Amino acid sequence: PRDFLIAPSILSANFACLGEEVDKVLASGADWVHFDVMDNHYVPNLTIGPMVCEALRKHGVTAPIDVHLMVTPVDQMISSFIDAGADMITFHPEASLHIDRSLQLIRDGGCKAGLVFNPATPLSYLDYVMDKIDMVLLMSVNPGFGGQAFIPATLDKLREARARIDASGRDIRLEVDGGVKVDNIAEVAAAGANTFVAGSAIFSAHQADDPNGYDSVISQM
Ligand code: DX5
Ligand code: ZN
Repeated sequence: PRDFLIAPSILSANFACLGEEVDKVLASGADWVHFDVMDNHYVPNLTIGPMVCEALRKHGVTAPIDVHLMVTPVDQMISSFIDAGADMITFHPEASLHIDRSLQLIRDGGCKAGLVFNPATPLSYLDYVMDKIDMVLLMSVNPGFGGQAFIPATLDKLREARARIDASGRDIRLEVDGGVKVDNIAEVAAAGANTFVAGSAIFSAHQADDPNGYDSVISQM
């Protein structure tokens, strides 16, 4: 049975009409909304925060909102995003002084929790918290910007993460973020991922034959 989910990263959407962009991408078959939060501190870029998440909820978005925190410290933002209507919240373990506490904070708020691994961050951060994790997110680019090329070493890391998840016997999603395109998504899935973030591949796909939606690109994924 198909258990693949597509989570378009709204980082590459047109922010001047974000509500319509999200409506269109969901109408085109996307499963989640991937929400990239950058603080110009943990990563060298600045994006959107809890007020924008809340605004999407008020706009009528009911799909799961997958909040990827690229901020430090993390705990205040976790609380704010719980209140703003997030469904899952992931953070980078290097950005939290108290990883277990941050994970617990997310779960106590009724959200799914996950850790995000930069290309050179070891999976050993999972060692003592596997029972508090609903999702593992592997970055296949260095975080901060859309439109970068997929780092091939991620494929081996995905296989390693898949083995750890399977060995745990727990229901943990394996998500990949960065440089995922129509032409490499099958290989990424074969390495063990089941949840795919795609930003530029989707939002730059305004084809002449598909002026109002993103159907043609999402249906190829
Ligand atoms: C990068 C973000 C990604 C990014 C992906 O720091 O976490 O979600 O938007 O963009 P693409 O798919 O263009 O690599
Ligand atoms: Zn992301």
